[in-house]
Amino acid sequence: MAQVFKPSSNTYSKLVIFGALLAVGGVGLVGYLINTSPFNTGAYMAHAQPVPFSHKHHNGELGIDCRYCHTSVEESAFAGIPPTQTCMNCHSQIWTEAPMLEPVRASLRTGQSLEWTRVHDLPDFVYFNHSIHIAKGIGCASCHGDVTRMNLTWSVAPLTMGWCLDCHRDPAANVRPREMVFDTTWVAQDQRALGEKLVSEYHVQPRQDCSTCHR
Ligand code: HEC
Ligand code: HEC
Ligand code: HEC
Ligand code: HEC
Ligand code: HEC
Repeated sequence: MAQVFKPSSNTYSKLVIFGALLAVGGVGLVGYLINTSPFNTGAYMAHAQPVPFSHKHHNGELGIDCRYCHTSVEESAFAGIPPTQTCMNCHSQIWTEAPMLEPVRASLRTGQSLEWTRVHDLPDFVYFNHSIHIAKGIGCASCHGDVTRMNLTWSVAPLTMGWCLDCHRDPAANVRPREMVFDTTWVAQDQRALGEKLVSEYHVQPRQDCSTCHR
């Protein structure tokens, strides 16, 4: 009987299989890259907001402290988003007619809070807590960048597990003096040396076991 497959078809099928594997691998890789790309993680993009609130203006130029608006960041898991009344402390006196601020005035009239679009949003199965990070000398800027240069707020970090763990493995790269936590422009002259000193002074020991963040 004549051979159905020519000997050369062996090489051919190998090529096909190899090609298919490459293609699958390629798709997988592309899938992975898309999954962790800023587009998917939402990092580096400004988000549309009901009012174009600017940290650059309010913090960078007016110098208002983070805690004036994010009041619970030192004591609780959540930093807190300011209620309308906080805006009105000033905007009942300045820029009272500005059309841009109409949603803020409407919110005060109706009692309906402003619906800010979240910039950072971890999945529900992840536990995060602001207060411990602040208490151990991790500055807002280590995770949020220098918001005092941002008009609309965007995220500078991917918020992936690997990102959290990078710092939990090597906190000395980030720990700063506690009094500099809210200063988003502060930079150490020698972070390594200072970080190592503060890690021992503040007893910084971030955990890496799964139940730290998945509980
Ligand atoms: C005058 C009030 C005010 C002050 C002061 C202020 N913020 Fe905000 N912040 C807001 C408002 C309103 C939002 C929601 C709108 C937005 O995301 O821009 C917000 C949002 C944020 C977010 C994004 C929250 C999210 O949705 O994930 C971060 C991070 C943040 N602020 C950090 C800071 C830091 C750091 C400081 C101090 C340097 C600061 N803020 C000072 C009012 C303020
Ligand atoms: C401590 C006072 C203060 C507080 C609190 C405050 N603002 Fe302002 N805001 C100002 C001043 C001052 C200006 C600038 C007016 C000017 O440019 O002359 C301003 C300007 C603005 C503008 C105009 C655009 C810009 O950035 O120049 C918007 C929008 C605005 N604020 C929204 C808010 C919102 C929303 C809140 C509450 C989360 C808030 N502000 C809280 C003082 C304040
Ligand atoms: C160790 C990293 C880290 C540090 C340091 C940090 N944040 Fe955050 N922040 C996050 C993460 C992660 C989220 C998203 C939390 C979520 O989705 O549950 C967040 C969310 C926020 C929010 C949205 C409201 C909320 O609590 O979910 C605000 C506002 C905020 N941060 C402000 C601040 C300010 C102000 C500081 C400094 C005093 C600060 N953050 C320091 C990581 C950090
Ligand atoms: C820039 C550094 C840094 C980043 C980024 C960071 N952490 Fe931390 N984390 C720390 C430090 C420092 C501590 C305090 C360790 C200690 O208790 O001494 C801590 C503590 C914690 C704790 C408290 C653990 C306990 O003992 O109760 C939790 C939960 C936590 N981190 C979750 C997260 C999650 C989730 C992320 C990512 C979304 C994250 N962290 C990103 C530095 C960081
Ligand atoms: C320091 C905090 C932290 C620790 C410790 C941690 N995780 Fe996570 N984990 C996260 C965050 C944040 C995410 C969400 C990542 C995202 O949305 O991309 C996550 C996501 C996951 C997911 C979902 C799949 C994925 O990649 O999105 C699994 C499964 C997981 N973690 C398992 C573990 C296991 C197992 C351990 C222990 C070996 C562990 N985690 C330790 C922060 C942590």
